[in-house]
Amino acid sequence: MKIAVVGGGGREHAIIKALRKNSLAEEIYALPGNGGIAADARCVPEIKATDLDGVTEFCLKNKVDYVVVAPDDPLVMGMADRLEKEGIPVFGPVAAAAMIEGSKVFAKNLMKKYGIPTAHFEIFTDAESAREYVKTCPLPVVLKADGLALGKGVLIAESREEAVSAVHTIMEEKKFGESGNKIVVEEFLSGPEVSVLSFTDGKTIVPMVSSMDHKRAEDGDKGLNTGGMGTIAPNPYYTEEVAAECMEKIFKPTIAAMNKEGRTFRGCLYFGLMLTKDGPKVIEYNCRFGDPEAQVVLPLLETDLLTVMKAVTEGRLSDITVKWKKDSACCVVLASGGYPLSYKSGYEITGIEDCDNVYVAGAERKDGRLFTKGGRVLGVVRTAGTLPEAVRLAYDDAAKIHFENMHMRHDIGKRAMEALI
Ligand code: AMP
Ligand code: GLY
Repeated sequence: MKIAVVGGGGREHAIIKALRKNSLAEEIYALPGNGGIAADARCVPEIKATDLDGVTEFCLKNKVDYVVVAPDDPLVMGMADRLEKEGIPVFGPVAAAAMIEGSKVFAKNLMKKYGIPTAHFEIFTDAESAREYVKTCPLPVVLKADGLALGKGVLIAESREEAVSAVHTIMEEKKFGESGNKIVVEEFLSGPEVSVLSFTDGKTIVPMVSSMDHKRAEDGDKGLNTGGMGTIAPNPYYTEEVAAECMEKIFKPTIAAMNKEGRTFRGCLYFGLMLTKDGPKVIEYNCRFGDPEAQVVLPLLETDLLTVMKAVTEGRLSDITVKWKKDSACCVVLASGGYPLSYKSGYEITGIEDCDNVYVAGAERKDGRLFTKGGRVLGVVRTAGTLPEAVRLAYDDAAKIHFENMHMRHDIGKRAMEALI
């Protein structure tokens, strides 16, 4: 079987390594992949993940049997629709369903209509009304650009001045482009955050092992928001009791709501949750695997990934049992110093071969050697019987890797381990 994985980061590397475990996966292409993924798949650097025509033509020409579309933007743009139209089976939702991530306004209205717990909110389409509102609303307040913004379209304002300036940044300066034409202004929630990825074929929903992301660039959750500086799984705050509550109040109602709206979701639906004192609430939905959540969740999957994905695509998820290892996992992201703002690339990476499991997010290969290319460069992952052991092993491995100007957080898993005491 020939498989194509669309995307080129650490998440895609984790998906590819998991797919490779199935002997049916004879050939795996990565579109575009990266210099590190090239060790595990045939990369096609000239085809970008958002190139709907390019990906479709490549798959037809190379008789690809199955496509996994991993990133949000091609899904929101309708890549799954395009491939399905050509008769190519896909893992990933059609555009109508990917809207759950593509528009925060859509997601918030969906939750309101179907009584799914989330932060109270108002929607604005003009800056003047948004400004008037934030002059009187409770503080802190959270402002979110409607559309995709590389995970950066959320601003938290502690004061009126900050809130007014956030409205300006999003709606007038258009820092996140057209994504800022509409804005969600919502109540600030607090509590531990949990990421729950799930497999769903639109009828059955199977949550994966829970995880915790570390979004800020610096230790102690300081610094700017990033795409994610590390993850652990499972998340100890997500107890069986919380899981049962989420299933009844959030997961099943979301699947039912999407069906009612004629937007059946098939693929990986990601629930970003906050465990507030009033119960779990949805912070965001994503229409895909999280990055770097996939890097800790997939190594804990005992059932073969290709089998599960095919069951999702073919609408027979209820026929299979998805099993998980009882272990814990930790991913420490090694980034280029300066990320998420400006940083230099092109430094040689050494030491990967001395580590157990490294997913490559941003690197290129020249003469058989690997060089940094991008903000997030590597995800160093270890699994172990306990979370503290997985964290220790991941940091031991991270210490074996070297590239100039390397930056990592030193406290991945710390908050989670506090929950265990
Ligand atoms: P998002 O891009 O929606 O995941 O938001 C980025 C981060 O902003 C989340 O991981 C939360 O830490 C924070 N956040 C988003 N919405 C809220 C909220 N309503 N209250 C508090 N924090 C929030
Ligand atoms: N790690 C957060 C995300 O993938 O959106």
